Amino acid sequence: MGRLVVVSNRVPVPDKKGTAPAGGLAVALQSALEARGGLWLGWSGQSCGEDAIGPLKTLKDGNIDYALTDLTEKDVEEYYHGFANRVLWPICHYRLDLAEYGRREMAGYFRVNRFFASRLLPLIEEDDLIWIHDYHLIPLAAELRRQGVKNRIGFFLHIPWPAPDVFLTMPVHEELLTSLTAYDVIGFQTVHDRENFADCLARQGLSRRLGESRFSVGERTFTAKPYPIGIETEAFAALARRAGETTLHRRMLQSLDGKSLIIGVDRLDYSKGLTQRIDAFETFLTRHPDNQRQVTLLQITPKSRSEVPEYEAMQRAVAEQAGRVNGALGTVDWVPIRYVNRSLRRPALAGLYRMAKLALVTPLRDGMNLVAKEYIAAQNEEDPGVLLLSRFAGAAAELKEAVLVNPYDVEGTADAMARSLAMPVEERRERWKGLMATLRKNDVFVWCDGFLTDLAGATLPRIRAAS
Ligand code: G6P
Repeated sequence: MGRLVVVSNRVPVPDKKGTAPAGGLAVALQSALEARGGLWLGWSGQSCGEDAIGPLKTLKDGNIDYALTDLTEKDVEEYYHGFANRVLWPICHYRLDLAEYGRREMAGYFRVNRFFASRLLPLIEEDDLIWIHDYHLIPLAAELRRQGVKNRIGFFLHIPWPAPDVFLTMPVHEELLTSLTAYDVIGFQTVHDRENFADCLARQGLSRRLGESRFSVGERTFTAKPYPIGIETEAFAALARRAGETTLHRRMLQSLDGKSLIIGVDRLDYSKGLTQRIDAFETFLTRHPDNQRQVTLLQITPKSRSEVPEYEAMQRAVAEQAGRVNGALGTVDWVPIRYVNRSLRRPALAGLYRMAKLALVTPLRDGMNLVAKEYIAAQNEEDPGVLLLSRFAGAAAELKEAVLVNPYDVEGTADAMARSLAMPVEERRERWKGLMATLRKNDVFVWCDGFLTDLAGATLPRIRAAS
């Protein structure tokens, strides 16, 4: 297998504090790439004036060579805040109401993809396998093909692919679909996402389906298949076991003073269902008042994409809502919700997961959700906690033994919280065993190997510029 070249918008360059990168893509890819080695190209996170774009910043950390590019302020505005996060993100998460189309942003998105192609081009060697990630970079392979690249190129979408009736509302849907056909392998989180994609192709009459995972467009054939992403199961479990010895762990236990910990960990994003979750928690406390003063919800929610107006509005709304519940139900010595807007280091997070009797993973829509998987891996097998999981997270397709809920059903979710906290230890062990077996069978290395094996085996692309 040739050298692996990964491209993604966000690159979790190691920082000295060891702060956990927010978002599943960064977490999973870093584990996969560390094990295999390779080159990782992406955005530096910095923006500058039009004339100030310098050469790539390169650095090496262990097995990974990083190459980072700055973008101009206009690029970041149009491509990242504009099209990626105000059109593609809401559309893929079924929020047509939040999508803000603008010709300028669409043009900026395609322009920045061309720019990424030009930065990558001089680095590519003949046998490299190129693996492009997520919705920011859908047209990148088509750009590379236009510039003569013949390597095998794969794409993995970390977020959901919506049903055709949603996807086709997007003015540039045709260009996006066509540009995807320049890849050799397209990976999705679930069968459902792949089928939605296949339905979009069929609706547009763009391709022929040759088999379950094989499609053809003109002379090109490509694979489109589900590869559910995993975590470093054993390493995360070990991290959680060791966390009991840390000062943070002791301080946290002390501050709980015998109360049961419920945990939620999510980027501050409207797809995560935070408002519905806090409503459900409040309903749980009022419908099952025996739990008042007996439980504490620790909601860890690092701020995200704050320059995007919908996110800015949400920051205020969730903070107010948590404050209101605490004001209404709290007492002088009990705060129902501890609301924290920062990311924690991974060892600290692992320890908190292990301490928590219940995890609330209740997104309204989610590609996979690795918090669900990390929570399971962190549990103590003798006395494991319970995972309450939204049916609309990709993880629900695999984690059948979780307590599955509909996050839009606030009262149903509230009752599921009560049932989960009261669940006998035998049932908790039984469910956990099944969940852990799934995580062991399909960890991040299986995900990565599965995708790359298919990519390496893909028929070499015909030399034809993708239109
Ligand atoms: C999700 C996306 C990733 C993204 C992450 C954090 O997990 O799938 O592509 O990196 O969110 O969002 P950000 O906008 O900060 O990169």
